[in-house]
Amino acid sequence: MRLKKIKLTKLSWKLALLYASVFAAVLLVLNASVLYGVKFFLINQAEQKVDSVSSAVEKRIIGSNSEQMTFDDPEMINEARNDNTLNIKVADPSGKVVNTSDNFNTSGLPMTDHINTARKLESGKLKLVVKNTAVINGGKVRAYVQVSQNMEKEYTFLRILFILLAIADMFGILFSLFSGYLLSRRMLKPIDKMTKAANEIGLSGLAERIEVPLVDDELSRLAKTFNEMLDRIKATFDKQGRFVADASHELRTPVSIIQGYIGMMDRWGKQDEKVLQESIDAIKKETLSMTVMIERLLFLARGDNGSQVLQKATFSIDDLMEEVSMESLMLTAGHNFSFQGSQGLELFADRRMIKQMLRALLNNSIKFTPNGGRVTLLYTGNENKVVFSILDTGIGIPEEEQEQIFERFYRVDKARVRETGGSGLGLSVVKWIVDVHNGEINIISSVENGTSVAVTLPRL
Ligand SMILES: Nc1ncnc2c1ncn2[C@@H]1O[C@H](COP(=O)(O)OP(=O)(O)O)[C@@H](O)[C@H]1O
Ligand SMILES: [Mg+2]
Repeated sequence: MRLKKIKLTKLSWKLALLYASVFAAVLLVLNASVLYGVKFFLINQAEQKVDSVSSAVEKRIIGSNSEQMTFDDPEMINEARNDNTLNIKVADPSGKVVNTSDNFNTSGLPMTDHINTARKLESGKLKLVVKNTAVINGGKVRAYVQVSQNMEKEYTFLRILFILLAIADMFGILFSLFSGYLLSRRMLKPIDKMTKAANEIGLSGLAERIEVPLVDDELSRLAKTFNEMLDRIKATFDKQGRFVADASHELRTPVSIIQGYIGMMDRWGKQDEKVLQESIDAIKKETLSMTVMIERLLFLARGDNGSQVLQKATFSIDDLMEEVSMESLMLTAGHNFSFQGSQGLELFADRRMIKQMLRALLNNSIKFTPNGGRVTLLYTGNENKVVFSILDTGIGIPEEEQEQIFERFYRVDKARVRETGGSGLGLSVVKWIVDVHNGEINIISSVENGTSVAVTLPRL
């Protein structure tokens, strides 16, 4: 019990970990794209700003008298005066710096390379976006302009964003781990209950059932299937129990009759020939019916546990009919028999069982048809199937009992049992044989008029 509990908890943790790692992966991708996007946007903006400032300065340089251009006019770097994150430098064609806003130190940055492209670079501790421009007038380079944008604030902002996102992620992952655990535990709870219920089933018989969760999902289907399986097991179990009880009950009667006769013989049989003979006859009859019954019980038991072997072979129906008719004629002299059928039919089946089946059906007809009545066996067939029909003019079977007569030990008229003999197993055996040959059995019967039983068997 304890062990199972631990295993279940582990499963919840496994699921929770799975949720959390999927969630973490999603967060990672999401946050990386947010950070990257923001960074891209900020640098792009800085580049645009640097571009526009560069061209403004360039315009000023060219806009002044083109013959005598002055580069050291402080007006030129006005923009940098209002914005200390911006640095503007102007150099003469030889590269000598002639005008600078000196908002921050960019002395290490050459002014004449990477002309006209704004780029991101680092100078000392500074992170900058820098653009160098060559001012060309009259086909000559007149000056160089360098505009730098300090990105410190932007990078600080990105760092803070990163930290915030990381903290949020951590909380998110922890939360998803925890809630995933609680959720899976909740969802797996029915399994825990099922385990408990299944454990108790052995103890309290087969009556216990698992509570089916209200929501229609895999777990409720599992519970339902489990319960249905228990129903089936219980039905089989009960049937077996009834079978054993009925069998014992049925065997008790002949045994007590035999005991009675033995007592009688013991007391009077030694002197009285008549009592002796009567007792012997009765004991013979009872042991015979017991033997038949035990054989049928064994047959059905073998059928139930699957150890009944079928020995299928192709055989001639004409031969079989001859045997069966001879045997039936020996059973009674009081009935009108007729056997009719198509000649030359063959069947692929267990011959011994088919014979047993026909014998049981004919015996019933003989048993339940008064002397003078008619008993007929017809057989026909085509390439697919063979039909045996056993017709009699006997007492018939009430409509409402025609289903039940195939049940084990079922007899219509229990009072007449001692007279007719039989234990109510004959038709159970017949049904088993027909089923195992994939055949069908149909009964048409009316009380007082007679019964017709038709067995249809596939040829192959
Ligand atoms: N041909 C028949 N005519 C009338 N009743 C029949 C016939 N065949 C079977 N039955 C009824 O069905 C019951 C079950 O038959 P069966 O299983 O062969 O048992 P048994 O012959 O041992 O009584 C019989 O007891 C009888 O009541
Ligand atoms: Mg019978």
